[in-house]
Amino acid sequence: MFQSSSMLAGTPSDYLAPLYHAPPQAIEALQAGLLARPAHIDPKYLYDALGSSLFTAITQLPEYYPTRCEAEILRDHATDIAQHAGKVSALIDLGAGDCVKAEKLFPSLRPEMYIPIDISVEYLHSAVQRLKNTYRDLNVSPIGEDFHHELTLPDTIPRSGRLFFYPGSSIGNLDPERALALLIRIRQSCDDGGLLIGVDRVKSRHVLEPAYDDALHLTAAFNLNLLRHVNQRLGSDFDVRHWQHVAHYDEDHARVQMHLQAQTDVDIHWPQAHRTFRKGERIHTENSYKYTPEGFRDLLTRAGFSHVEHWSDACGWFSVFSARA
Ligand code: AVJ
Repeated sequence: MFQSSSMLAGTPSDYLAPLYHAPPQAIEALQAGLLARPAHIDPKYLYDALGSSLFTAITQLPEYYPTRCEAEILRDHATDIAQHAGKVSALIDLGAGDCVKAEKLFPSLRPEMYIPIDISVEYLHSAVQRLKNTYRDLNVSPIGEDFHHELTLPDTIPRSGRLFFYPGSSIGNLDPERALALLIRIRQSCDDGGLLIGVDRVKSRHVLEPAYDDALHLTAAFNLNLLRHVNQRLGSDFDVRHWQHVAHYDEDHARVQMHLQAQTDVDIHWPQAHRTFRKGERIHTENSYKYTPEGFRDLLTRAGFSHVEHWSDACGWFSVFSARA
């Protein structure tokens, strides 16, 4: 059943892809979102191997300013940031990926331990090997967990002097209540440590919308690729060619919303169910919340952090906050 429906749907390369058997709860959640009105799919499905490569390409686009602005801030204010962070016994990198952003902080923060956390340890493996070879005195202990659901750290990491690093405005994917809940969990995981976090700012839609709908259509490919990933996980038969990428800044909620819009009436099948989408109907795939410096400072304070400081890039488009527990 699973196989035959994807055989009907796919291109030859799809048959060759290994079928990953997602846990039943993940399948349940995917289905519930697809059947909801309006339909939605969790943005984590943007990141299969191709999606992660596309995101890396996006960060190099002239329109996508956040990565560049954040790097500028971390570079130009490294000394002030290190001073505010104080003594770092353990640098805990939330969503570490290739660990390159954190590595740039090593000379100024001088951590004793580096704890990269990502959904899979296998994914961290090559980066961790590289770091262990380069920084022989650094204790590198990777953790494979989804810190959005739980944040459990082994007792071998001292509670005192923990610095959590959460860059890239990844917190923007969460709606403000869930963002607050995550910040509270981070606050509860450090005694006298702190948090270093990158946050994208509220600004003109003339800057925001091109960042999420670029001239080369890389963001469109990134968004559409989510359907191929869902086909693989769920055994559904989405045809990418029937869908269009839409990105829109919703000023009232201060968020960029990404959708996929049906170009024609389509009927989507998967082993357990099916759904018709009318021409023009949309599937919501991502929110990217933007904050004012005051608004984010308030969120950190509500989460229980005390000394809050922030730095901006020259354009005032992005902020890096340092908050002490
Ligand atoms: C990785 C969640 C920060 O919201 O800007 C980039 C993802 N989506 N282009 C963002 C993304 C579309 C990105 N984050």
